[in-house]
Amino acid sequence: MMNRRSLLQGLSLSILSATMGVSPRHGEAEDAPEVGDQPVTSADRLRIAVIGPGSRGKELIRQFLRVPGVEVVAVADVYELRFLQVNELVGKAVPAYKDYRQMLERRDIDAVVVASPPLFHAQHVIDSIQSGRPVYGEKTMGFTEEDNYNIVNAVTQSGQIYQVGHQNRYAPWFQEAIRRIHEGEIGEPTHVYAYWFRRDNWRRNVPDPNLEHLINWRLYRESSGGLLEELGSHQIDVANWIFGEQPQTVLGSTSIVLYNDGRTVGDNVQAILGYSKGRRMIFSSLTDNAFMGDQLWVYGTNGSVQLTVEDATFYGSIHHTITGSDHTDAVRRGVKTGASYNYAADDEMPYRGPGKRIDARKAEDPTLTACRSFVHCVRTKTQPVADVRVGFGSAMACTTGKNAVFEGSMKNVPQWKPPAA
Ligand SMILES: NC(=O)c1ccc[n+]([C@@H]2O[C@H](COP(=O)([O-])OP(=O)(O)OC[C@H]3O[C@@H](n4cnc5c(N)ncnc54)[C@H](O)[C@@H]3O)[C@@H](O)[C@H]2O)c1
Repeated sequence: MMNRRSLLQGLSLSILSATMGVSPRHGEAEDAPEVGDQPVTSADRLRIAVIGPGSRGKELIRQFLRVPGVEVVAVADVYELRFLQVNELVGKAVPAYKDYRQMLERRDIDAVVVASPPLFHAQHVIDSIQSGRPVYGEKTMGFTEEDNYNIVNAVTQSGQIYQVGHQNRYAPWFQEAIRRIHEGEIGEPTHVYAYWFRRDNWRRNVPDPNLEHLINWRLYRESSGGLLEELGSHQIDVANWIFGEQPQTVLGSTSIVLYNDGRTVGDNVQAILGYSKGRRMIFSSLTDNAFMGDQLWVYGTNGSVQLTVEDATFYGSIHHTITGSDHTDAVRRGVKTGASYNYAADDEMPYRGPGKRIDARKAEDPTLTACRSFVHCVRTKTQPVADVRVGFGSAMACTTGKNAVFEGSMKNVPQWKPPAA
């Protein structure tokens, strides 16, 4: 039954969908748990195959297996060690293929999960779609501009279901916070500052030097867009959601501060993404200091919101601990600094107060909700919230943005265009 909250969420989704140019989609937090609650019949059985069951692929297998009716019937990977790991995870021998094309010839596959590195996404996603299967495709959707357009064309021409791995779209506290932002609670959102800080060299252990590029693909430009693509893509997706559009420009910068170990991507990245009406997203990622963690700040003309992996907090009007009245005229005269710094204006050094928090610590893992929602979309033949256009918006910012970052330049981001007929 639809209560007021889901009605409002539905409305906000419709408004958002209209601004993004798509029809309403499935995937709201309140919808998804119902999917798992429904009784499972043999008709609900959903047999999935996974291409690239590495770190993320195994996590997706773990989550998909929590959705009633889902079975993992086959996996494909160029690295055979994965097959043993998958068998251990699933608890039985899963048919395994070194060539994913052979796997796609099986007749018992209902949907495909693509969790290979981004360099191969277009090939794996398009072949899976052309084999007649819906696809859950990890981000970042494509690796090149051409990949992004090719995936869009394959999905739209086939009418097939494609869901991109931007699980924040399924996080109830993101949905609620962004609904309130769209309703004007912080005025006009003009800036999104996104931080993804880690204390981690980003390097994986390699049992054989010949496997360096297969295992540490993230560290090399020929197979990775670095921190912008790997981490920033999630946050760019959130900024796109907030602003209701994809960015038009990207200005980038990177360097290596700590990890001079042969990698060709930077160990810190800064990017400024330009949206219409002068709005900006600022992305900053460090790997030598985890202080800021993974969080976004949304600044509006009448308030601010902090979005983290476990909550969202709204800050409205500013409360001051130090006000003009705390200072004598003599002190004020003594620190006169003109327009560059002005205590008396009460705007500098504000105490922002405790804020109003949407606590999400009890919410289920958004990746599980995203998997549930994908299963529901396949069963009901509906398009997901995190659809191909969502995937395109962040992917194009990254495929263009990584070159801006590597070159230290500014680039125009190719825009969504009606798919080829
Ligand atoms: N949504 C998220 O939060 C999230 C989190 C982590 C990773 N990811 C994404 O998931 C993808 C995989 O990342 P990962 O950390 O699991 O990488 P990984 O290296 O651990 O796993 C990738 C797997 O693909 C296999 N592979 C490589 N080339 C292949 C090919 N040509 N054909 C078939 N298999 C191939 C590798 O052997 C490996 O098993 C990336 O796109 C990454 O951005 C998403």
